[in-house]
Amino acid sequence: MDKNIKIGKASKLHFGKGMLGSGPHPHKRLDTSKLSQGLSGGAHMRPADEAPNTGAQAPIAHTQHAPSPSIAGVKRVVASRPKNYMPESGMSQGATRVVAIIAFVAMAVIIGVFCWWMFWRDVTFTINEQQLSARVGTPLADIIKEHDNFGAKPGRLLSVGGTVLDEAGGSLYTVNVGKEDMPASKLGSLKIADNMKATVANGIDTTEEHDEEEVLIPPAVEMQRGGAVQFVSQWGKSGKKLVWTGKTSGEKVDHETVEDPQTMVISSKNLIPAEDGKKYMALTFDDGPSKFTPAILDILKEKGVKATFFELGTNITTYAKYSKRVLDEGHQLASHSNVHAYLPKLDKTAMREDLTAAFTALKEATGLETQMFRAPYGAFDTNSWLKTYDLVSSNVLWNIDTLDWKRPGAAAITRAVVNGAQNGAIVLMHDGGGDRSQDVEALPGIIDQLKAAGYELVTVEELMKLDKSLPEDVIASKIKLPAGVVIPEDIP
Ligand code: NI
Repeated sequence: MDKNIKIGKASKLHFGKGMLGSGPHPHKRLDTSKLSQGLSGGAHMRPADEAPNTGAQAPIAHTQHAPSPSIAGVKRVVASRPKNYMPESGMSQGATRVVAIIAFVAMAVIIGVFCWWMFWRDVTFTINEQQLSARVGTPLADIIKEHDNFGAKPGRLLSVGGTVLDEAGGSLYTVNVGKEDMPASKLGSLKIADNMKATVANGIDTTEEHDEEEVLIPPAVEMQRGGAVQFVSQWGKSGKKLVWTGKTSGEKVDHETVEDPQTMVISSKNLIPAEDGKKYMALTFDDGPSKFTPAILDILKEKGVKATFFELGTNITTYAKYSKRVLDEGHQLASHSNVHAYLPKLDKTAMREDLTAAFTALKEATGLETQMFRAPYGAFDTNSWLKTYDLVSSNVLWNIDTLDWKRPGAAAITRAVVNGAQNGAIVLMHDGGGDRSQDVEALPGIIDQLKAAGYELVTVEELMKLDKSLPEDVIASKIKLPAGVVIPEDIP
């Protein structure tokens, strides 16, 4: 009986043949697991290369096609194996135990070697070009500590304001591993490894622990000067900054600007009508209405030109009908304050009360709601703007001062206007506040000469429109405050 069954070869042969598909009979696959069970039950195994029929394929093929009795026997044994089956082999229980012990010892050795490799062997590494060796997995921090930080000098502990709180209170040292700087947060978990190359250098300064809060930055204000018309061209907005308060020092410092504030800008501009082949000027009359107002209105009507009247609240109350006539005849009506006070000397409450009374008088007399303004004496400083930013859309000054209040004579007044004439100019005259007969006398000639020189006389609002660079709410004499606007504090 041939018991030298070559499991490996038979399997290979079987699959080889199956792949070729040339076998005349249905192939039965050898169940090698069952086979081995059967073999352990009594078959004497010999290495395949000792088999007498090595290289002879026929017998092997035969084995496959017609299962040998031994294989049939294997099947039978397996089928009838009792529950408490013990091999009847020559291997005693003692031998089985020995094999188990050997297997156990071998496993223990493998585990032992593995653990040694992972946890107990020594590795060599280099710190500051010094070759060292230690057990694998030792924290790098421990090695550094053992070597007194390799002489590294600690950094300082600084207050949020930069004062030295502790000469050695900063980080003890810095570590660079493989040309990579190690952040302090990683150092604790960093372990040495084979051929690790590390550099330990001086520590760095650190800042004390601190609280951080977001604080608003108030906007600044910038006032330009020199032009005839003042108005807000950019509204202020708050910025944001981070403020640090040191927990040790108590110092409070600005750490970082998160958002820049937006400066409030008060522009001062001469009106320059956009090029359209024509020239424009605006005549303006202050301190009325008065008994001289109707005469001036008559001349303007006769000459067919428009002008602008900056009236005092108290005078409007007295001569409301003249104010109404100004408006009815197509001229522009604006305010010149209530009682002609020098405004920069007034506190916020007094200033707002004066302006409110002045605009209210205009509205009550004529129904007009306007915020166009001309400060008495032209005096309206930065703080005046900050105090009344929501009441005044523009402070209209002038380009040509006729000095008519000095009563220099009609000819001098006329000369002042004609000599100073230029495109976009605003002329200052008066229809109230004293004897304005010289203005009445001069006015027809002024208009005739300006017309002859090619000027069209318009209101200040028209001139603003022609300039094409002013904000719409300024032209409309009605302030529109944008969302989130912040008015800077008064400048002391
Ligand atoms: Ni005045």
